[in-house]
Amino acid sequence: MTDLTTAPDRAAALASRYPAHVGAARLYGEEYHRDTAGLYRALRARHGAVAPALLEADLPVWLVLSYREMHYVLTRPELFDRQTPWNALDLVPADWSQRWLLGTESVMRSSGREHEHRSTVLHDALAGVDQLELRSRCERIADALIDEFAPDGRAELMSQFALQMPVRVVSWMLGIPLAEAPAVVRDLIVLMNYTGEAPAAYGRLLARMHDLIRQRRERPTFDVASRMVHHSLAAPDDLLVEDMQYVVGGGQQPTAYWIGNTLRLLLTDTRFAMTLAGGRRSVGQAMGEVLWEEPPLANLSAYWAARSCQLGNHQVQAGDMLVLGIAAAHADPHIRPDQTVSVGDNQAHLAFGHGPHRCPFPAQELAEVIAETGIEVLLDRLPDLRLAVPAPELRWEESLWMRGLASLPVVFTPA
Ligand code: HEM
Repeated sequence: MTDLTTAPDRAAALASRYPAHVGAARLYGEEYHRDTAGLYRALRARHGAVAPALLEADLPVWLVLSYREMHYVLTRPELFDRQTPWNALDLVPADWSQRWLLGTESVMRSSGREHEHRSTVLHDALAGVDQLELRSRCERIADALIDEFAPDGRAELMSQFALQMPVRVVSWMLGIPLAEAPAVVRDLIVLMNYTGEAPAAYGRLLARMHDLIRQRRERPTFDVASRMVHHSLAAPDDLLVEDMQYVVGGGQQPTAYWIGNTLRLLLTDTRFAMTLAGGRRSVGQAMGEVLWEEPPLANLSAYWAARSCQLGNHQVQAGDMLVLGIAAAHADPHIRPDQTVSVGDNQAHLAFGHGPHRCPFPAQELAEVIAETGIEVLLDRLPDLRLAVPAPELRWEESLWMRGLASLPVVFTPA
């Protein structure tokens, strides 16, 4: 039998099975990252709302570029779901870097009644977090992180601050003992980098969640884990651990990048710089603008067509994979004919997804409190914070899925 996972056979299979994808745009590599917005404009001009595109290893997907089509996909679970098997599975190389797309057991991959139950459990458990306590915990965590670098007069705010805040707050909220939080942080970082160590880190995280379930079942307390375990709709333990893992891990990078992207805007855009020192209101405004202009989750995936249907100008086949371009949809000329006009406080962005699988509302609020409190404490403590490099030298992580800075070096008067 032909091994379709080798590059030449994949190319031949692409030509015969996915003719629309021959020569399609690659959503990876230097060219993609050099001018992503320009590429999206060119694809929109050529294909309209939906374009054929290629993931790493030149695997075929449909890239949804328009706001309306994206809304359509996210609200038609009968047409687009997360469980239909990909019709290109036989082409996926064993060492494919994007293999994580193909499956976990988390809430994100469930559907129908099971998804309703699991997402209700998450919603109720997260909604029970006391907002005042949360805010004061965020302040303490931010203060402790800033104490570490304040005397130095310089810091790299992604690794020393933005990436540290969410996991610490969420670990506390879930009920993970403080002493164990550093190990959770380490494992999450390994997991996010998808190295060979990732499966072991994932295993350790799940084992930790199993322990937590056991403890909270015997002795419930006022934390998210207890509310999940004792919920009347709680899933069996092997699914509950996946959802707890998702609470800690799923929001980590998006929230960290929301903090980083907002700090970048505050430090580089004169509209905000003028009020930086005293401008509490402007932190909220900058955070809102970032959700439109630099959404932390730039592209969503793991959506497949459940049956053949028309999408944009294309006939999509059952089992075709979609990539939903959140950043592209936010720049869609049909909803924003003039990109220079500010989005103001318009909340109709898709940064938190939409439809049944959107980020649960209490999780959105939680992320907002973490990001806003963290940024406010940082600006209060280090009021003359400024970039240590010229703004054009700031580099983004080269990821199709996430929009976040690789580093954010700053200087300030030692405090
Ligand atoms: C600690 C903070 C966060 C937590 C605990 C969290 C949790 C979750 C969970 C549990 C889901 C799955 C919902 C489902 O499938 O039913 C989800 C989905 C999502 N979240 Fe969050 N989230 C957080 C922060 C964020 C942030 C800051 C963003 C971006 C600004 C974000 C964007 C999304 C998006 C776009 C989805 C939909 C994913 C999809 O359809 O594939 N989340 N989140």
